[in-house]
Order: sequence, then C-alpha cells, then structure tokens
Amino acid sequence: MMRIDIITLFPQMFDGPFSHSIIKRAVEKNKVEIHLHDLRDFSEDKHRRVDDYPYSGGGGMLMRIEPIAKCIDFLKSQRIYDEIFYTSPDGELLDQPSLNKYSNLQNIIILCGHYKGVDERVREHYITKEFSIGNYVLSGGELAAAVFTDAVVRLIPGVLGDEMSALSDSFQDGLVAPPAYTRPAEFNGWRVPDVLLSGNYKLIADWRLEESIKRTKIRRPDLME
Ligand code: ADE
Repeated sequence: MMRIDIITLFPQMFDGPFSHSIIKRAVEKNKVEIHLHDLRDFSEDKHRRVDDYPYSGGGGMLMRIEPIAKCIDFLKSQRIYDEIFYTSPDGELLDQPSLNKYSNLQNIIILCGHYKGVDERVREHYITKEFSIGNYVLSGGELAAAVFTDAVVRLIPGVLGDEMSALSDSFQDGLVAPPAYTRPAEFNGWRVPDVLLSGNYKLIADWRLEESIKRTKIRRPDLME
C-alpha cells in the first residue's frame, strides 16, 4: 500500500479534498494511507512558532529548519522514503508522465511550503524533488499537495472502479479525451453522432481516436510536437 505523509501548517485544509470521492474510497480500500503532520507539533518553541525573519531582510517570513528536520527525521526513522517532495512554484511542473511514475512509489513525504518558503538548507539536505502545479503563485503548498495527491491516488491500480478509465484520460496517450455523450440521443434537436449509436466497436474506436487527434491539434497544439 502506498503511504503519503504530508507535513503542513494547516492540516485541516485537507479535510475536504481527502474525505470525498476517489481519495476517500482509495483510503477505505487500503490502496493508500495518508498521514497529516502538523509542523507546529515539532516546534520546540513554547509558542509553537515555526517561522522566523530572513537574514537577508526584505520582509516575509521563512519556515525554520529545526521543526522540519525533527519531523522528517522522525518519519525517516520509521521507514525508508522514496521521495521527499516540496511544493514550490519554481519546482518541476507536474504532468501526467511524472504522476504515472510517482503513483508507483511506496512511501513519500510532501512538505508544504508557506510564507516566503523554507530555509534553503531544508531544500539542500532533505528535499529530493520539488514540484509546481502551474505557473502561478498560491498562498501555500497545501492546495498543490492536495492536487498532487488526488492526481497520484487515482492512478494506483485498483483505485478507479473501471481499470481502463485512467488509461483513457486526457494526456495518458499524449492526446486530450474525445467528446463523450450520454442519453438522450437527441435533445433540442442536437443529436449524438450517429457512429456512437451504431454499436460498431471498431468504427467507434476509430472515431474516438480521430476526434482526439482533431481536438488536440485545435486545443493543445503544444502536445502534438
Ligand atoms: N506554492 C505556491 N505556488 C505553488 C505552485 N504553483 N505549485 C506548487 N506549490 C506552490
């Protein structure tokens, strides 16, 4: 079973995303174990402070190394981790191929950044990989960690009901998904394409691939290179 340890200043931020739908089911089916760690629990400060002013000045606070080190060292004393991730807008941009790889890992830690980030020594000595979920700045790493977790967990074998459905997602074959329809066959005079009603599996498969390619060219020409 995959194990994800998330180190955060705001564990409650994960309550919503982790207690519904696919992630909730994956946890119940013992496909993944998710543990949230409140960084303040590892602070030795009597006010449970985990941040401090940067030596450089310039405003903003930094997350201190001691509580992070204490938390990560504790986790590492319990098991071997494949990867220790840090959420950062200057990290590697997440994409489907890297998420496919991460979904095969056994134990991972995600450290959620906050304020102006962490003391650089954390990144140098503890973090093995940094990821960004897009070229924009969030107010903290929690949403990025939730996005990462959602995208990884649904790829763990046996998590999605229909084993095929992750394989037919947009991006899995470098193409976006084709259009899809459900009943009724006609609404307001808008008809479902005839081929989908034909029952001819081969014709339908050809049509879907063709539509995927057409759609990728128009919407995501960057993927066609
Ligand atoms: N923290 C702030 N912005 C972020 C982003 N875009 N991706 C990951 N972590 C972040």
